[in-house]
Amino acid sequence: MNPTTPSESSGSGMPPAAIEGTLPTVLAPMQDVTTLPFMKVIARCGSPDIFFTEYFRVYPHSSLEKHILASITANGTDRPVIAQVLGNSLPDIRRITALLQRHPVAGIDLNVGCPAPKIYKNKAGGGLLADLPLLDRILETLRESITETRFSVKIRLGFDSFEPFEPVLELIQKHRVDFVTIHARTVREMYRGEPHYEFIAKACSCLDIPVIANGNLSSPAKAIRIARETGAAGVMIGRDAIRNPWIFRQIREATQGMEPFQPRLADVRTYIDWIYMANPGRPDATERARVSHLKKFVNFIGQGVDPEGRFVKTMRRAENSTDFFRVCDHFLIEGGRDAEPFPMEPYAGVVARPNCE
Ligand SMILES: Cc1cc2nc3c(=O)[nH]c(=O)nc-3n(C[C@H](O)[C@H](O)[C@H](O)COP(=O)(O)O)c2cc1C
Repeated sequence: MNPTTPSESSGSGMPPAAIEGTLPTVLAPMQDVTTLPFMKVIARCGSPDIFFTEYFRVYPHSSLEKHILASITANGTDRPVIAQVLGNSLPDIRRITALLQRHPVAGIDLNVGCPAPKIYKNKAGGGLLADLPLLDRILETLRESITETRFSVKIRLGFDSFEPFEPVLELIQKHRVDFVTIHARTVREMYRGEPHYEFIAKACSCLDIPVIANGNLSSPAKAIRIARETGAAGVMIGRDAIRNPWIFRQIREATQGMEPFQPRLADVRTYIDWIYMANPGRPDATERARVSHLKKFVNFIGQGVDPEGRFVKTMRRAENSTDFFRVCDHFLIEGGRDAEPFPMEPYAGVVARPNCE
């Protein structure tokens, strides 16, 4: 499937799954994580059906950040890419969406969920859930400006309560949004606790557009179950795809009635090498900075390595790549550990805190 073909990029609804009849999967946008090099690593393990970019900040005189734009123009994974925007300045939203539509985007998505205080205090991201008249005007502007591709929104359930949820669904309906992704938590809940999936089911029953479920879909079995129970048309996975980059192929295999791929700890070791070689952070980073950036990913991966979290604690202390990979070899390869299965679910109690959204 070529994401640049007009019939694909301008359709309504959501981009289809690569294999008909399978549950559509999406890699969640994650700032400083879902860069082009990381998307390529994920694609080696089994692409999701859809990629989202990190958000493009929209403000007076903002431009399209080159490294984010590259995840669209040089993507090379053969899967559609949705460009996400974050901001509230109407003329600049018009300007940036016009620029984006000159590129092969499969859609433009508005971020209505970012819980970072510097963002929500400025009435952007999750802050829009506390100012619905402003959200109304932004959705109207986006609907008018997005003529060449899909228009989607990624929302949370509300700011500090669930009250805005139904009014927001009404706005989504009113402005003929093509599809919506729901992270089933409020902004105040950040990433904590079990998501409230019942709101996804509610959205599926009131809206006539595809709804993508998001939030702690930690294994292929859970993602498939939540999609079935809520009626969601697809699943978006973020942190659990950093831990288990095979999750998209596993979902695809499971929904085709096949036994999902079972990675071993040796595969995890190779995956860590791929991330290091891809260098998903700054291209000019020093070795120390590269190792430190790699730890951000391995924090999540470690949730599946040992139930006591010893791997995570030990690798965090490594200061250079030699020490770091020695720790990886010890926990993932030596003593016959290479052949051990990498579990589908993370170990409860091994915490990897996200440091931003
Ligand atoms: C490090 C990090 C960065 C994120 N950046 C973004 C972002 O740029 N845009 C966005 O809509 N959501 C962002 N999110 C939220 C994720 O897309 C997703 O909604 C959230 O992590 C819940 O899904 P999960 O439980 O599968 O991780 C970010 C999350 C993390 C952990």
